[in-house]
Amino acid sequence: MRPRTVHLALGSNEGDRRASLERAVQRLSAVPGVEVLRVSSFRESAFVGAGPAQGAYLNGVAELRTTLPLPALLAVCKAIEAEAGRRLPAPKNHPRPLDLDIVLAEGETFDGVDLVVPHPRWHLRPFVVEPLRELGVDVEGAPRTERPLLVDTPGAIAALASAWTANGCVVGLVPTMGSLHEGHASLMRIARSECDRVIATIFVNPLQFGPREDFAAYPRDLGGDMRLCAAAGVDAVFAPPVAAMYDERFCSRVAVGAAAEGMEGAVRPEHFSGVATVVARLFAITRPHRAYFGEKDAQQLAVIRRMTHDLGFPIRVVPCPIVREPDGLAMSSRNVYLGADDRRASTILFRALSSAQHAFARGERDRDGLLARARAVLASEPRALLDYLELRREGDLEPLPPGPIAGGRMLVAARFERGVRPVRLLDNMALVEES
Ligand code: PAF
Repeated sequence: MRPRTVHLALGSNEGDRRASLERAVQRLSAVPGVEVLRVSSFRESAFVGAGPAQGAYLNGVAELRTTLPLPALLAVCKAIEAEAGRRLPAPKNHPRPLDLDIVLAEGETFDGVDLVVPHPRWHLRPFVVEPLRELGVDVEGAPRTERPLLVDTPGAIAALASAWTANGCVVGLVPTMGSLHEGHASLMRIARSECDRVIATIFVNPLQFGPREDFAAYPRDLGGDMRLCAAAGVDAVFAPPVAAMYDERFCSRVAVGAAAEGMEGAVRPEHFSGVATVVARLFAITRPHRAYFGEKDAQQLAVIRRMTHDLGFPIRVVPCPIVREPDGLAMSSRNVYLGADDRRASTILFRALSSAQHAFARGERDRDGLLARARAVLASEPRALLDYLELRREGDLEPLPPGPIAGGRMLVAARFERGVRPVRLLDNMALVEES
């Protein structure tokens, strides 16, 4: 590999800190293919961050010239850390005799499981910025790793996702239509905890709206969405214009069968075909390992599971629990359109489902009895105009066989029409024995 300049951050807050840093520099100089050009002065900084109370760090930066590929240089750093007595894998935010981080590499980036160059937070750390400045690095002009990256073409997000996969990352996808709220943030946090890289997509998909539905008026707020994605630890946001997803000759559709019949499928005939088409397209573009969907849209989840299986996408569909407001209303982007009175009335869905769940937990096993109980609660709220109330098999939402039930999922949809604009709300709940 051609020689290029690499900056390495050095830190220690355990044992003889100065001796550890100096020994690390000597060790680096002895590695074939590595020449230490210069080392900044060392400076002290207090430990910041979560973790056990611990002493101050001694930090500096070494400037190297190296022919080693960045993963090989990382392996060298890990070996020198281990030799200095650092326990590896290192517990997060614990004191350490030696910490070596690759911060910048001239003209080069790397984005893998254990290594991201430029280091994603180098510019936020004065104990890295100041030594770099001392070494004459133009810190204002130096490259940064932006997170989340905002990408708007299928080609660019496909290239990013496939580079992550090639570097050994597990990639998680969180498809959304934007106007993000805490419910979406919870999907992203679950994805963050299970994957090395998380892509959120923000695309208001025209194919899943009927002619009289609210496609044009669907709430959009890319700035707010980017802030939420950043706080939830998303690595890339894919927010394409409609023409990038569906060019003028686009004419293919995923047809979905039984899973899309009844309930939402009866009220919104083309909806699930539109959902399945866009999700299949997002899967094909990003090729994630895992994809995260909320249980609030339970029938959508069943349709997507079926489609993923039927079309053979090698993707794990991960269901994520419903996130509720403190009074029980399931979070939804459309809740903003409820007027104050409809907003108060909207908790009736949660109360109706909860009454069935309580009855089930107390031993009621008759399907009609459970439905009647929930229907009676719904009937007590005249603002809620019921579209359907169903009790289905958990998971695939197939109709339950006759006879006493052993469990299931109750699903409800109702319209509230007296607010800022008419809103349809969906909710559902698993009927389970209480533990
Ligand atoms: O649930 C949604 O927000 C959408 O239906 C989805 C899955 C992103 C497809 O457009």
